[in-house]
Amino acid sequence: MARQSKKGTPGRESESGLPIDPVYGPEALAGWDPAASLGEPGAYPYTRGVYPSMYTGRPWTMRQYAGFGTAAESNARYRQLIGSGTTGLSVAFDLPTQMGHDSDAALAHGEVGKVGVAIDSLDDMRVLFDAIPLGKVSTSMTINAPAAVLLLLYQLVAEEQGVPAAELTGTIQNDVLKEYIARGTYIFPPQPSLRLVADTFRYCRAELPRWNTISISGYHMAEAGASPAQEIAFTLADGIAYVRTALAAGMDVDEFAPRLSFFFVARTTLLEEVAKFRAARRIWARIMRDEFGAQDPKSLMLRFHTQTAGVQLTAQQPEVNLVRVAVQGLAAVLGGTQSLHTNSFDEAIGLPTEKAARLALRTQQVLAYETDVTATVDPFAGSYAVEKMTDDMETAVGELMVRIEDLGGAEAAIEQGFQKAEIERNAYRIARETEAGERVVVGVNRFGLDAEEPYEPLRVDPAIEAAQVARLGRLRAERDQDAVDRALAALREAAAGDANVLYPMKDALAARATVGEVCGALREVWGTYVPADAY
Ligand code: 3HC
Repeated sequence: MARQSKKGTPGRESESGLPIDPVYGPEALAGWDPAASLGEPGAYPYTRGVYPSMYTGRPWTMRQYAGFGTAAESNARYRQLIGSGTTGLSVAFDLPTQMGHDSDAALAHGEVGKVGVAIDSLDDMRVLFDAIPLGKVSTSMTINAPAAVLLLLYQLVAEEQGVPAAELTGTIQNDVLKEYIARGTYIFPPQPSLRLVADTFRYCRAELPRWNTISISGYHMAEAGASPAQEIAFTLADGIAYVRTALAAGMDVDEFAPRLSFFFVARTTLLEEVAKFRAARRIWARIMRDEFGAQDPKSLMLRFHTQTAGVQLTAQQPEVNLVRVAVQGLAAVLGGTQSLHTNSFDEAIGLPTEKAARLALRTQQVLAYETDVTATVDPFAGSYAVEKMTDDMETAVGELMVRIEDLGGAEAAIEQGFQKAEIERNAYRIARETEAGERVVVGVNRFGLDAEEPYEPLRVDPAIEAAQVARLGRLRAERDQDAVDRALAALREAAAGDANVLYPMKDALAARATVGEVCGALREVWGTYVPADAY
C-alpha cells in the first residue's frame, strides 16, 4: 500500500514515510561499502541473514499459531498441523490464562477458550501435549506476564514424557514491555515484571539452555498502527531495556543474549519489509557488539519469527486475503525470517476453520518448495533499490531510538506514553488515508462487490467454560491442599526477597497449584499495574 508522495515529488512514500524513487541507479549507493554494510551471510553485521547457508541449508520453521477451546481440542489441531507438514508448534492461550486467572474466576467469564486454549493446571498442560514428542518438536508459547508459569508447566510435562529439560527447544514470548505499549495483557508493574524476566533468563541458562527466553515483539505494535520504522525502533529499544535489566541482575551479556529472539510483522509492502528486516539485523548486531561488548557471535544475531499482517486482511471478499498472505509471506522469506506464521484467509471474520488453516500452511509450502527463493541466500543483496531502502530504514530507526534514549530508555518512555502516542498518531493517519481513498484496499474502498458471498466461520462451543470450571473443581477437591498452601507460601517468600522465583513456582505447579493461584500469590506481593492514562 505504498502511497503517492504528498510533497509533489515524483515517486512514492513508504509506510514509514521514507521516499521510494521511481528509479534507483548506482548513484543511490555512492560511497556504499558492501564489506561494511553487508558482510557475508552468517557473519557480522548479519544484514544478509544469520546463517551462512540460510534456506539452502534448512528452510525456515513453519510455525502456525493455533489454539482454542479446551486442551483436548487444541491438541487435536496440533496433531492435524503436524500431519499436514508444520515444522514447529505455536500455542495461543485464552485471555484468562494470559492474564493469570483460572477459568472459574469471575473475570474469566465469557472468555474461556475464546482466543486460545484454556490452561489452568498441569492436568490441562498434559492433555495439550498428549502424544506430541516434546524432545523433537520446538514449541512457541504466546504468553507474557505468566510466561514463567507456562514454561514450567511445559517442563513438567516434558519430564513426565522422559525428556530432560536441557533438550527442550522453543520460545516463550515473555515480552512484558510491549504489553504496556500495545497488547494489554500485563499483570504486575514494570519493575517486578522485569525482575521476573531476569529470573527467567537465569533459570533457563541453568536448566533449559536451548530455550529462547523471550520473543521481543514488534508485531502487536504494528497491528496497533506502528509504521515499519516505529516497529523496529520500539522493539529494539525494548530489547536494549531487557539487556540492561539482565546486566543489572548480574548476568554476563553472552550468558543470555544468544537466546534473545524477536518477532515482527510482514506487510504487503514487500520491498520496504525486506529492507526493514535487513536493517533490523544490522542495527542489533552493532548495538550488541559496540554498546554491550558481546563477544559470542550468537549474541549479535537477530533471529526472528514473522507473522503476516492480520490488520491488512479484510472481511470483504475474504479469499483475496490468500493473495495478500502469499505476498506478505514472501516478504518475510526474502527478509530472512527464521520462523513464519501465515495467517488464514478467514481471520478477519473469526477463528480459522480447518480448511483455511491448512491453506495458510500450504502457502508456506509453495514458497519453500515450488518457488526458487530458497535456492540462493539474500537474493536482494546489491539491489540499488533495496540497499538504499535498507540504509534509509536504518537511519530512520536510529533517529527514533535516539528519541527514546533521550526520554530515559524504553521503560521511561513507556511511562511517559511516548510509544503509544506515536503509534496512535500513525494509526490515525492510516485510517484517514483509507477513508479518503488515498490508500487502496482492494475489495474495501476499490473493486468492491455489490453483495458479499455468505461465509460460515468457526465458532467455539460456549459449553467449554462450564466443562473447564467443573474440571477445576475436581482438581481442587483431589489435590493435597496443604502441599499447595506450603508451596504458594514459599513462592510468596521468594517474591518478597531476592531468590529466583521459578524454583518455588515449579514446586507449586507440580503440587497442582493453578495458574491463577500462582499468579495470585505474586499479585499479593508485587501488586498490579494500572496504566497512567487510566487514572
Ligand atoms: N544452517 C545451520 N543451522 C541452521 C540453519 C542453517 N541454515 N537454519 C537453522 N539452523 C539451526 C539453528 O541454529 C537452530 O539450532 P539450535 O537450536 O541448536 O540453535 C535450529 O536449526 C532451529 O533454527 P532456528 O533457531 O533458526 O529456528 P526456530 O524455529 O527453532 O527458532 C526463533 C526461531 C525466531 C529463534 C524462535 O524464537 C521462534 O520460534 N519464535 C516463534 C515465536 C512465535 O511463534 N510467536 C507467535 C506469536 S503469535 C502472537 O503473538 C499472537 C497474537 O497476539 C498475534
